[in-house]
Amino acid sequence: MTSKVRAPIAAAIAAFLSLMVIVARGFAADAPAPLDPFDQVREMGRGVNVLGYDPIWTDPASARFRPAHFRSIARGGFKTVRINLQAFSHMDKEGRLDPIWLATLDRLVKVALNDDLNVVLDEHDSGICAEDAAKCETELTQFWNQIAPHFRAAPDRVMFELLNEPNGRLDDAAWNRLLAVELAQVRKTNQTRNVVIGPASWNSPLHLSELQLPKDDRHIIVTVHYYTPMEFTHQGAAWVPQYAKLSGVAWGSPFDLDRLNKNFDGVAAWAKDNGRPIFLGEFGAYDKADMDSRVRYDFAVARAAEARGWAWAYWQFDSDFLLWDMNRDTWVEPIHQALVPNR
Ligand code: BGC
Repeated sequence: MTSKVRAPIAAAIAAFLSLMVIVARGFAADAPAPLDPFDQVREMGRGVNVLGYDPIWTDPASARFRPAHFRSIARGGFKTVRINLQAFSHMDKEGRLDPIWLATLDRLVKVALNDDLNVVLDEHDSGICAEDAAKCETELTQFWNQIAPHFRAAPDRVMFELLNEPNGRLDDAAWNRLLAVELAQVRKTNQTRNVVIGPASWNSPLHLSELQLPKDDRHIIVTVHYYTPMEFTHQGAAWVPQYAKLSGVAWGSPFDLDRLNKNFDGVAAWAKDNGRPIFLGEFGAYDKADMDSRVRYDFAVARAAEARGWAWAYWQFDSDFLLWDMNRDTWVEPIHQALVPNR
């Protein structure tokens, strides 16, 4: 064999071997180049929360959400999914994540990326963290110590969200301390991946002023959640006792719109002062409110976020606050139209 023939064969073998390395590791071999978090937020655009309450995590065979739903989400005008992970109950006594759970997550992330979606991996065990800060710290650290290296080489379209809605025992001071601990864990393997962090008190915009982020870490996207006014968005919601029996609260008066704009202007002012981009990670109104008011609310909140250059993710695709009707396997059209008008 002449060296002219041998060279392409050697190159082909080398290419094959590096492909095998990529397949074995799950993602490309090298960490992605740094991505400016403001550019990332522009890319994220419109999004939706998915999979938080799906049986897929305990029994993949009885999943409601199917991989094809990512394609529907992308075709429906969304660019981002925030995957809600309740991982603490999928770790053994030593804190090791269940390999089947992790394989499910890997599969989902790959399909979402293939459909050109941005992916926020949101650790959503805020209920446990609200009650027991010590257990929270142990398990959250175990979680990020596994997930951060696991996704080290994933494309930069994958982002990590340290913890959903810190509240209860995680008051401002406790959360500021814990977020620094968790961010430091993540930064051991992901120096420049954009990490999503929000304020305490359920990611309340009113607690942004208390949020302390490491000043020299410029790869942070700040998140807030917006359900104001709760008596409208959570009327009839069994998990919020003071609003569980409420009904008939409408939304959309000039006062309502004015309050929304004032609240969002407050967030925008904080963002400007602190040089951080904003991701509105949850908003929406529970299914018990009247549909016309829900449509007005979702439209107004989404447009108000877009007008200020924020990315957003609607709460949520399936389960409640429905954007997708699983029985008919199609959009809840009025909500979809409100979120993504003029398709
Ligand atoms: C919680 C959900 C709840 C939603 C609206 C989320 O952060 O995880 O259980 O339905 O907020 O209240």
